Amino acid sequence: MTAATAEKKIPVLTIDGPSGSGKGTIAARVADALGWHLLDSGALYRAVGYAASMAGLDLSDTEAVTRCAETTKITFRDPKDGGETRVYVNSHDATADIRTETCGAAASAIAAIPSVRTALFEKQRSFRKAPGLVADGRDMGTVIFPDAGTKVFLTASAEERAKRRYKQLKDKGLSVTLSSLLREIEARDVRDASRAVAPLKPAADAVLIDSTGMPIDEVVAKVLELVRS
Ligand code: DC
Repeated sequence: MTAATAEKKIPVLTIDGPSGSGKGTIAARVADALGWHLLDSGALYRAVGYAASMAGLDLSDTEAVTRCAETTKITFRDPKDGGETRVYVNSHDATADIRTETCGAAASAIAAIPSVRTALFEKQRSFRKAPGLVADGRDMGTVIFPDAGTKVFLTASAEERAKRRYKQLKDKGLSVTLSSLLREIEARDVRDASRAVAPLKPAADAVLIDSTGMPIDEVVAKVLELVRS
């Protein structure tokens, strides 16, 4: 068996959807329940957005941002005592920095550059390791893992997503308003769905789950049922 064939046998669950749909939480819970690896692809785009901003790059300078995507060292580390996975950008712990709304907007801008997506392609594919992978993002089921055995497209109303984000950021002590979050979420949805490369859209074979008003446990159970069936 060739290495490529062996890799194809490793099961993948993709969870795509818009910002704030709960993908991250659901993907982490499902990966934990299955004992599979986890790829938070949004964190990679956020890390590049962060590195580019820190370097003072003009985010519309395609060449400079692509070089930044190619050379930035991004690593994920699970703390030994459990807790949130840490994200290191060129050895600096940027876990909190990459979660700000400013960084989210930078990520969305640089993610629209085709050569940036190419630069991150192999890195994302390299997360496919036994016994399995749960990958969350925008194009996991359409572009990165088109052969995934289970594909989910998770959504929720913009209002509900803004409320969830508001709570998350407030809990982290960040100062935000609900109305500005809603505006940002709607603007990001439009940008992510209308870009020319890998726009946010469900794969033809994805199962759509609308999580508006649905408790997290229920969504996790539904996704687990899909993987196991
Ligand atoms: O999922 P997130 O909010 O952390 O993602 C941040 C941005 O990164 C989002 O606006 C779009 C981009 N992104 C992408 O283009 N493709 C992915 N697979 C994941 C994220």
